[in-house]
Amino acid sequence: MRDWLLSALRNGYRHIDTAYMYGTEQVVGEAIKASGIPREEIFVTTKLPWNHQDRVAESFQKSLEVLGTGYIDLYLIHWPQAFSYDEGDTLPRNPDGSFKTTDKVNFNDAWEEMEKLLDTGKVRAIGVSNFSIKTLEKLFTTAKVTPAVNQVELHPYLAQNELRDYCTRKGIALTAYTPSGYSPVREDPLIVSLAEKYKVTPTQVIFAWHLSRNTIILPTSKNSERQKENMTIPTLSEEDLGKIWGLDRGQRLCLKADPTTGQVFGWTLEQLGWETYPPKF
Ligand SMILES: NC(=O)c1ccc[n+]([C@@H]2O[C@H](COP(=O)([O-])OP(=O)(O)OC[C@H]3O[C@@H](n4cnc5c(N)ncnc54)[C@H](OP(=O)(O)O)[C@@H]3O)[C@@H](O)[C@H]2O)c1
Repeated sequence: MRDWLLSALRNGYRHIDTAYMYGTEQVVGEAIKASGIPREEIFVTTKLPWNHQDRVAESFQKSLEVLGTGYIDLYLIHWPQAFSYDEGDTLPRNPDGSFKTTDKVNFNDAWEEMEKLLDTGKVRAIGVSNFSIKTLEKLFTTAKVTPAVNQVELHPYLAQNELRDYCTRKGIALTAYTPSGYSPVREDPLIVSLAEKYKVTPTQVIFAWHLSRNTIILPTSKNSERQKENMTIPTLSEEDLGKIWGLDRGQRLCLKADPTTGQVFGWTLEQLGWETYPPKF
């Protein structure tokens, strides 16, 4: 991973998205140092794991030490649901196989602790990930600081228009994970035909749509040529962008409900506030 991270930095990437749960903070820190790029030119996002919502300061400090970047630009609550703390197990389960989520810890309390981190000067901004209008509304019942960012799955098949409008009204920047929509979106006939029309790749067409909507994107590629491709975004006509808006079908491609339990990591779609977007396929 160090090699392709270094290649991404050399190819011009300046925003690195990592998380305690990914186990990638150390290699991200190493790649940043090895790149020789001044720290202040790089934007580092990392995330509080779901089993640390009752130990925010401690978890943040650990992430910061492992990254070794001196400060973190953006720190996110990774998921709204909390899991019981279990050393070494980020996804603890009950004897019946269900996930060990807990109501004793909640994101409102975790957010209060996140707000305190801002006073330490070790984090520039705080935000959330995988939050919906429903969970954001619950957050706002106690929050003093508005999340700077909400990072969610977002691509032409899951345009998240309601959430986008809500976040715009609240002053929350929306960041798209799985921005490409993988091969289902890349191989969509409309995307392919627009790529031919503009003489670019399908991924570049998809990213042009994101940028036209002011969404921050997190494209990941291990391949140097594709990294460069993802940095070169064409401008599409309003008419063609409108056609891409028409592809929205509420289809999650990265993190979907378990077909047996109907849950995503221990929470129902209703708890997550994701039920306005039931998968149609
Ligand atoms: N907050 C969360 O819960 C959450 C969840 C999921 C992801 N994320 C974040 O979002 C980031 C991106 O998400 P993602 O990896 O799911 O989505 P993605 O970046 O849309 O997709 C990555 C895949 O697309 C391929 N790819 C990249 N550029 C391409 C191009 N120009 N042409 C063809 N294929 C291309 C990559 O293959 P190659 O490497 O071979 O190019 C890789 O298989 C993650 O790294 C993570 O930081 C956050």
